[in-house]
Amino acid sequence: MTKTEPKSGDPNADLVARVRRQFEALHGRSPALVAVAPGRVNVIGEHVDYNGGWVLPAAIDRCLVMAVAPRDDDRVRLATADFDGLLEFSARDLGPGSTKDWGRYVRGVMAGLARAGHNVPGFDACVASTIPVGGGLSSSAALEATTGLAGLALCGAEMERFRLAKLCQQAEHDYAGVPCGIMDQAAVLCCEAGHLLLLDCEAETYQQTAFRAEGWSLLIINSGVAHELASGEYALRRSACEQAARRLRVPSLRHVGPDALAGALALPGLTDEMRRCVRHVVTENDRTSRCVTALQRGDIAAAGQLLNASHASLRDDYRVSCEELDFIAATAQRDPSVAGCRMTGGGFGGSCVALVRQEGADDVIRRIGDAFAAKFGPRPAAFVTTAAPGARLIAV
Ligand code: GLA
Repeated sequence: MTKTEPKSGDPNADLVARVRRQFEALHGRSPALVAVAPGRVNVIGEHVDYNGGWVLPAAIDRCLVMAVAPRDDDRVRLATADFDGLLEFSARDLGPGSTKDWGRYVRGVMAGLARAGHNVPGFDACVASTIPVGGGLSSSAALEATTGLAGLALCGAEMERFRLAKLCQQAEHDYAGVPCGIMDQAAVLCCEAGHLLLLDCEAETYQQTAFRAEGWSLLIINSGVAHELASGEYALRRSACEQAARRLRVPSLRHVGPDALAGALALPGLTDEMRRCVRHVVTENDRTSRCVTALQRGDIAAAGQLLNASHASLRDDYRVSCEELDFIAATAQRDPSVAGCRMTGGGFGGSCVALVRQEGADDVIRRIGDAFAAKFGPRPAAFVTTAAPGARLIAV
C-alpha cells in the first residue's frame, strides 16, 4: 500500500503530530503506522444513494487521524488524543456488543476484515479528529476508513477502495444500527484532491470530476444541532422509498426518470408520504445530473440554483431538515457572495454547504453567524474547505 509524506503546510500536520505524541505518551513506544481519513461534504444528490441514485460528494480538509502499533497479544486498546479513557477488547471477540462507545465502529470493520480473510492482530491505537461529531460530515465513516486501512496494513494485505467502502458500510449497518447508503464510506475512501466524486450508487462506479469553480469555494456551516440518524427517521424514509419502488414495480426509485414522474405520482396505491419521497428522489437525481453539467461548464449561478432547489425539496418533500438548517440555508441564499446553499448529509441537524465567493467568504461567515446567533444564541462553526484527498496511510 502506498504511503504519502505529510506535506508541509498541510492543515492536518499538527493533528498528526499531536496523535503521535499522545500515542508515545500512552504506550511508551512509537506508532508503526498512521492512517488519515477526511470527513465529506455532499455537494448535491441527497438521500438518493440508497435509492440507487447519483451523488456528488467531496472529501473535506477536516480529518480523523489514527496512530497504530501491533501488540504481541490479541488485545485491542483504543484511546483518543484528548485522553478520555481506554477502550479495550479482544481481536478474537468482535461481536457488536451492547455498548454505544466508538469502539463498535472499530470492531465492526475488524469483523468485516476477518470475514474477508484478514484477521487483524491485537494493536494499540490513538485517535484524534477535527471532524465535528454529529455535524453530518461523516466522522464515523472516517473512523471506519482509518480502521480499514490500518487493519489491512497490520495484516500486510490490500483491498480495492470501493470494496473496503462496502465493508465499512456493513459495519455501520450491523454495529451502529444505521441502514445508510454507500455515499459516506465511498467518499471518504475514494475521493481525490481537487475533485468531486460522481458516484453511481447502483452501478457502483464513480468518476473523479474536477471541481472547476475559479474564485468559488465550498463553505460548510454547522448548525450545532447534533443529528442522530439511528433515531429512526432515516430508516423510515428509506423504507418509504423501498415500498414506493415496489408499488411502482421498479427495482429502485432510480429507475423513475423525470419524464415518468407525473405518471408515477398519479398512480393509485401510493400514500402521500410515498409520493413526497418519489418526488424528492426523482427530482434530486435530475438536479444532480444538471449540477454536474453546470459545474463542468463553470456555470456557478446555475449550480447554486440547483443547490437551493435541493434544499427546498429536502425541507418540504423529504422532510429531513430542521429550523436551524432552514435558517442557515435561507440566510446564505440571500447573501450576495453565495451562489447557493443547502443542507448536506442525512439532515435532522448537522451542516449546510454553500457555494461561496472565495474573496467574500469571511464576511459571509460573519453575516450568517450574526444572524444565527441573534435567533438561536450560539454562533455556528463555519469553515471553507477545498476538495481534499481521500483516506491514506502516511509515512511515520
Ligand atoms: C447519511 C448516510 C448516507 C446518505 C446521506 C443522505 O449521510 O450515511 O448514506 O444516505 O445520509 O444523502
